[in-house]
Amino acid sequence: MLKVRKFTCENLTYGCVTDEPHPCFSFSVDSDRQGAKLEKAVLTVGNWSTETTRQIAVPYAGEELQPFTTYEALLEVRDDAGETAHSRISFETGRMDTPWKARWITDGSYTFTEKKVSPVPMNFRYRFKTDKKVKSARIYATAMGIYEILLNGEKVGDEYFAPGFTSYKTRLQYQTYDVTSHITRENELNVVAGGGWAVGSFVFTRKNRISADRQALLLELRITYADGSVSVTGTDTNWEVTEEGNYREADIYDGETYDATVCLDKINWRKAALEKLKIRPRIFAASGAPVRAHETLFPKSCSRTVKGLVYDFGQNFAGVVELSIRAKKGQKIIVSHAEILNPDGTLNTDFLRTATARATYICREGVQKYSPKLTYMGFRYICIEGIAQEDVEVSAKALYSDVEEQGTFCCSSSKLNRLQSNITWSAKSNFMDIPTDCPQRDERMGWTGDIAVFAPTACWNFNMSRFLDKWLSDMEAEQLPTGGIPNTIPAQGYGFPATMPAMAIEFWGDACILVPWALYQAEGDKHVLEKYYPMMKKYVDACRFWAGLFSAGKHRYIWNTPSMLHFGDWVAPDVPQMSQWQKRSKWTATASLCNTSGILSDIAEILGMGQDAEKYRKISKRTADAYCSILTDGNGKLKEEFQTAYVLPLYFGMFDGPAKEKAVDNLVRLVKKNDYCIGTGFPGTPYILFALADNGRADEAYRMLLNEKCPSWLYEVKCGATTIWERWDGLDEKGVCPIGDDGTDQMISYNHYASGAVGDFLYRRVAGIEARKPGYKRFKIEPVPGDGLTFAKGSVETPYGRIVSEWKREGDKFTVHAEVPVGSQCTLKLPDGTAEILESGRYERHCRLTGTDRQERER
Ligand code: BGC
Repeated sequence: MLKVRKFTCENLTYGCVTDEPHPCFSFSVDSDRQGAKLEKAVLTVGNWSTETTRQIAVPYAGEELQPFTTYEALLEVRDDAGETAHSRISFETGRMDTPWKARWITDGSYTFTEKKVSPVPMNFRYRFKTDKKVKSARIYATAMGIYEILLNGEKVGDEYFAPGFTSYKTRLQYQTYDVTSHITRENELNVVAGGGWAVGSFVFTRKNRISADRQALLLELRITYADGSVSVTGTDTNWEVTEEGNYREADIYDGETYDATVCLDKINWRKAALEKLKIRPRIFAASGAPVRAHETLFPKSCSRTVKGLVYDFGQNFAGVVELSIRAKKGQKIIVSHAEILNPDGTLNTDFLRTATARATYICREGVQKYSPKLTYMGFRYICIEGIAQEDVEVSAKALYSDVEEQGTFCCSSSKLNRLQSNITWSAKSNFMDIPTDCPQRDERMGWTGDIAVFAPTACWNFNMSRFLDKWLSDMEAEQLPTGGIPNTIPAQGYGFPATMPAMAIEFWGDACILVPWALYQAEGDKHVLEKYYPMMKKYVDACRFWAGLFSAGKHRYIWNTPSMLHFGDWVAPDVPQMSQWQKRSKWTATASLCNTSGILSDIAEILGMGQDAEKYRKISKRTADAYCSILTDGNGKLKEEFQTAYVLPLYFGMFDGPAKEKAVDNLVRLVKKNDYCIGTGFPGTPYILFALADNGRADEAYRMLLNEKCPSWLYEVKCGATTIWERWDGLDEKGVCPIGDDGTDQMISYNHYASGAVGDFLYRRVAGIEARKPGYKRFKIEPVPGDGLTFAKGSVETPYGRIVSEWKREGDKFTVHAEVPVGSQCTLKLPDGTAEILESGRYERHCRLTGTDRQERER
């Protein structure tokens, strides 16, 4: 039977509210008939209809969409046997630039000038009556700060941290809430706005008031009555405001203080004042992936310590606690958070730096619940003070952006399975409206380098379309006229040292190429390339410019600007000092230029820009040539050797012929000498196993992957890690942090996804799934079995449906099970070299294992 598997508008199956004049539709279909092909699809919206076989991002091209309107989209599909199926979704248009009737309001009498802290949360209130029957009601809202709306005492929507984090000076999201069912005759709107990223303290320098001097609110309520009339009211001076509400403090890093004894009817309210913002952003319908509560976690244990009750959730994550409390009025409960414990069982908060990460709750009388709303923490452990164990029930909610999980990986090694789980937990913990570096200390910033290397792995495990597209738009908005990309996006107060992004920085700036490219490979939507092409081009031109400065001849392709202006082989464990990581920038930057210009050339080709394609291909080739002739002996041996310096040119295809084989031998020599431990920093870590496995050294790759000696992926697992660490040696086997005062001791996070970039290898080589055409229109399944694993399975939800590759080995018998979605085609390659092309359906194939397997070879 044929059926529609997924049908989306703007990558959402439901709840899409968009300001796009041409929203895009995508769909996948399933059939239980082997070889089924999609023959045609008809997509209809209103009186517009199109016949297509394209399944990804079909743009609406009918008559102009009207704002504030719900539309139905109908999809009818037919396969090559004449079977049909259909599906329907609805989407809603947002304001589509309709001028706001609402005005920005604030508390005109509130000023805060204190440095390094966040403002007191501001409460807004408005009462109104409705005397006619309501057909539908919507709230459109945004704020300077982060806000939460209550209508008649009930929370509106289920998002955290609205309006989300964007490049506020140019882009600000508004949210749309369907409040039809909330409206009664007499109504009260209550909105609280914390400082968030716009007004509150942010960045490790704890800057505040970056985008606005105090919180402000813009909210419009649009009610359509049963008689067809429409009323629009919005924030204005009829609203009231106060800072005497329940939220006494709220800060992204420091946490929150909530006083439940405060009764909103008994405090002083003032008339709200109109606010003139100091920025003029474009306000558009939220386009990203809002933060919501996902998993509920329950403590695995509780112990009494000198500091209070310590609970262990058994999992490091980002989120908030949820407490059910029985208490006396005025009782004060303090919840502290940490990723690790001290040997005496108390919380170790040393590495949170200035982030206090504490939730304080002042109780009312009786039974009550509390969970922070205007902050979040990265933690595994909490310590509760101020209440007896029997009077509190503890749980926690994982908060992260709504990115749909779309991949699974498992295999016969429980440790690798734990690694996969750690990778996805670190991803979730750091998808907090923007891709962050870590969720716990006073950073949580949109560091570009981290997602640059992690994007392919992210795209295996989650549908990243909306989340990354929104963030890339911020990047585009913040690109400097010189072509450089700020190191954190949104830059929001971070500008140290100011010259660095102006210069373009390898790998960190490369995010503007690597992220859209990963997204395009996974989701197959060319718009992402079209949209960001000018940004990419400007960036690569900047890289090329800086590489060529102050040098002549071939040296113009060796990017050798002073190393303190780079991150180089960031966090490489084989050299201890930050300056030594940075000193490797000559190699990392040159290889990066070769890679980004090469990818840009491919993109230009895809977009039909032949001249550009040729120009960047040349840059890429010349850079590769310069790397080989200047940094190596011309025969695959680096003049100065370290793992990353071999890994990058090998993975980026920079060596030719015999030099390449020599380079592989040399890398293997280094790896063996290092006892199969990792020696790579951010740039080399995602690629080292490919550099080995793709060059005939799968055995060595597996030895490295399965190594448990520090530094290695499984060392962390062996030490009980439940997320990916920033530093490979973050803890010793007794759970104590061994990193001394070496200048990098302030960089110890246990939830940093960058080195989890190895996830790409798990899917692409261990399970063996690889896209050959974007979106997996064509793909291959070619598992690379290795020592130590007897089975592995990878699955991924692609734009065409679910791909599965599952293999097992029993003695020398190798069996693979493959699933191919309708609309795509798979080349299945078995370890014995046999290959065949598979159309949609499920397949099982066998072969005998031969020379790919070390034991076989040694036998
Ligand atoms: C962050 C990193 C980031 C780096 C760059 C660190 O403090 O946590 O992940 O990429 O700085 O300097």
